Amino acid sequence: MPSALTLPFLRYHIPISSPFSLPRCSSTTTAAVSQGDSTLRKTMDRLAGNADLMIVSDLDHTMVDHHDPENLSLLRFNALWEANYRNNSLLVFSTGRSPTLYKELRKEKPMINPDITILSVGTEITYGNSMVPDDGWVEFLNQKWDRNIVSEETRKFTELTLQSETEQRPHKVSFYVQKDKAQDIMKSLSVSLKERGLDVKIIYSGGMDLDILPQGAGKGQALAYLHKRFKAEGKLPKNTLVCGDSGNDAELFTIPDVHGVMVSNAQEELLQWYSANAKDNRKIIHATERCAAGIIQAIGHFNLGPSTSPRDVMDLSDSKMDKFDPAYEVVKFYLFYERWRRAEIENSDRYLANLKAVCCKSGKFVHPSGIEQQLHDCVSSLRTCYGDKQGKQFRVWVDQVLIAQIGSDSWLAKFKKWEQSGEERLGCLTTAILSSKDVSVADGLTWVHVHQTWLDGAGPNNQTTWLF
Ligand code: GLC
Ligand code: MG
Repeated sequence: MPSALTLPFLRYHIPISSPFSLPRCSSTTTAAVSQGDSTLRKTMDRLAGNADLMIVSDLDHTMVDHHDPENLSLLRFNALWEANYRNNSLLVFSTGRSPTLYKELRKEKPMINPDITILSVGTEITYGNSMVPDDGWVEFLNQKWDRNIVSEETRKFTELTLQSETEQRPHKVSFYVQKDKAQDIMKSLSVSLKERGLDVKIIYSGGMDLDILPQGAGKGQALAYLHKRFKAEGKLPKNTLVCGDSGNDAELFTIPDVHGVMVSNAQEELLQWYSANAKDNRKIIHATERCAAGIIQAIGHFNLGPSTSPRDVMDLSDSKMDKFDPAYEVVKFYLFYERWRRAEIENSDRYLANLKAVCCKSGKFVHPSGIEQQLHDCVSSLRTCYGDKQGKQFRVWVDQVLIAQIGSDSWLAKFKKWEQSGEERLGCLTTAILSSKDVSVADGLTWVHVHQTWLDGAGPNNQTTWLF
């Protein structure tokens, strides 16, 4: 493992060999910094102790497979994460995309919410669903950086085509450049920018994208910064798994002590970097599976925790657990619901009877429209919609399944439930009370009460069958 960044496409830069120090807050940014600070703390406080696992994953062609219209590996990962990791681990997305393109991807693909989002090739770090920026990071990146000078110098190269306006960010200037021209241009550029007094990092990704960032930026440095902040709070995750497919991901694999997976479909530039710099590092694997399936494979390979997605378990009633697990129960229930409507399981009264058995007799369901029904009646109404989504694009997933124990035998589960049917996507914030009273572990948990509210802008605009 290299002790410094010695990526071939970064070799024109001064390697970072010592841990950088955190920027000091200036009085003008103190308020903003403390907001980022409190959001980071919230992220950490959600967990009882240190995160069991922190996954830091790239999105395009790593977490998200653009060649899989069914999004199966992403959905498999989501189910695994929500059932087994959400309550004790941290999910970090680290993408080259700007906030604008990131939000677009979220609309296109069935993605769950990460705890931390690192955008624009490690130049923007944000916390939580509202994506509160880490202003300390912004200030750190201002050192020896002047994007006007970068613009001036790059204008001299006709081979460089500026990317769209959305991808030009305060600490990132991005171009397209042909593969055969990339190395020479990077070399001349780094010389000329150095002469102008800048300390920059030039990264080539995906055989076409060229990003110019401050030297201290990048996906790897952003992760090192997070590790440092977590460590300062005594909350360093027990394990970190980094996941990537292209050039801008390479430096993720250089961060001390992390496990790494290059997905099977990784780009040539990442594989070349690996052969030149890290092939003796047994903590890095090149998966045989594509995208999110490769991430799941790595979790298993490194023994980082459960690695069987509930989506890979056909008979969910048969899945044995040694304790009550409300998160697993929630994931399992909605998987059943998806399979039932897609007619992927047998149309058997036994299933509905089992379902009734796990719903409290007097339990209520408050539909997002506000109508209250008996849970048992809702289960009965499932009979008429068996297979109504057969052969159609219909998927159900849950996001941010957070569990709080509210009594010796009861739990409050709060989560977002999403349903995608063709082009239409509906989402509900759901709270449910589950209980283990009077049941044995083999019976699972009982649903006592379920209450749903349409998520902002995610309610129906026509007659849709929304059952649970
Ligand atoms: C994403 C960004 C782009 C960047 C590329 C590689 O595609 O949108 O601006 O150049 O990642 O980092
Ligand atoms: Mg990628």
